[in-house]
Amino acid sequence: MEAMTAKSHILLGQTLSFDGDPFNDPGAPRHETRGAVVVEDGVITSTGPADTIQRPAGAQVHDYGEKLITAGFIDAHMHYPQTAMIASWGKRLIDWLNDYTFPEEARFGDRAYAQEIAARYFDLALAHGTTTSVSYATIHPESVDAYFTEAQRRGLRALTGKTCMDRNAPDDLRDTAQSAYDDSKALLETWHGRDRLGYVITPRFSPTSTPEQLEALGALWAEHTDCLMQTHISEQVEEIAWVHDLFPTARDYLDTYEAHGLLGTRALYGHAIHLTEREEARIKEVGAGLVHCPTSNTFIGSGLFETARLKSAGHRVGLATDTGGGSSFSMLRTMAAAYELSQLRGTALHPSQLMWLATCGSADVLHLRDKIGNLAPGMEADLVVLDLHSTAAIAQRAARANDIWEAVFPTIMMGDDRAISAVWVGGRPCLD
Ligand code: GUN
Ligand code: ZN
Repeated sequence: MEAMTAKSHILLGQTLSFDGDPFNDPGAPRHETRGAVVVEDGVITSTGPADTIQRPAGAQVHDYGEKLITAGFIDAHMHYPQTAMIASWGKRLIDWLNDYTFPEEARFGDRAYAQEIAARYFDLALAHGTTTSVSYATIHPESVDAYFTEAQRRGLRALTGKTCMDRNAPDDLRDTAQSAYDDSKALLETWHGRDRLGYVITPRFSPTSTPEQLEALGALWAEHTDCLMQTHISEQVEEIAWVHDLFPTARDYLDTYEAHGLLGTRALYGHAIHLTEREEARIKEVGAGLVHCPTSNTFIGSGLFETARLKSAGHRVGLATDTGGGSSFSMLRTMAAAYELSQLRGTALHPSQLMWLATCGSADVLHLRDKIGNLAPGMEADLVVLDLHSTAAIAQRAARANDIWEAVFPTIMMGDDRAISAVWVGGRPCLD
């Protein structure tokens, strides 16, 4: 019984945290071979070497041995309604949307179905060590309610918004400029800031919104500046050409958002693979976030996001699965894909940089670095415990590791949900 009621916990194992950004400072990662994380009332109150840490009286001890305790993964861009059609074969973006995605999303007006898939999605996310997800819902308010209800029930920090589309989508998946504004506003007022939930204003992308709808959502964002705004930008070359046709007076793709009040520091731009110089400069000037979706970029054949160059140019970059355009629910697999894409761009991202992107980097684009994504006093206790020997192939490679990075990298490259030994949400073990 004590295990269920204890409010203070001490987790022992290897620990990984960050004192800064390893893209700028190779000394930023902090690793303890025998570390401790103290959790009280859902919050991390201290972390450091196990032998020197102050242990609160009555704290329950969880000894994870040689396993690695780190912040839970943060998936900064995904589509929970696409859970059931992940890994659909053979299309590029626009055909993939029309043939696979829209028919599935049309089902989410059914509250029971939305609830079923939301529960399935969070089961999968947690099994893969993802403790915060930023999702697109569908145009249906029910789909937002289902996601938030399920996240709230599990005590998760979670974000989503109604996906708005008023053109170039099937009839049953179109709203209007006015209804997108009204429905988004009502959902925002219901859910934003409730427990650990955050509403995200969500125009899907410029091809599926009229200028009037973009304008309406820009106006809503101006009324709620503490909300994030998420959309897609410059994912595939055919998409960019289409945007030029649809918005003949726009300077570029970003301008279709900028001209309608949809550019700001709390903007999240998914993909952002083929940006022009002006777009990159403007996004950097504003401090908006870019979200890298590497398994999606290879799966749908979109292109090679330049993580190292954009990071060294000072961009804020988060990491995401983009389920179900992405081909995996695993942020480990996503880190591996980010590594491989960067290799194709001539840069080998360090394991510390990959782990940072999946935790602190994503938290940074969400403006949540004071709450999630790291092991530090005051942070919410969303944690993952990684088994660095989870399969025979990984174990035999890790056995030869000379340091923590050689020990972690095989799990990044070859690991999956079998590497997730435990997950903590808000200071409670939910998978142990
Ligand atoms: N662009 C607009 N909608 C989507 C989507 O659902 N997935 C991906 N990968 N790109 C998009
Ligand atoms: Zn997406």
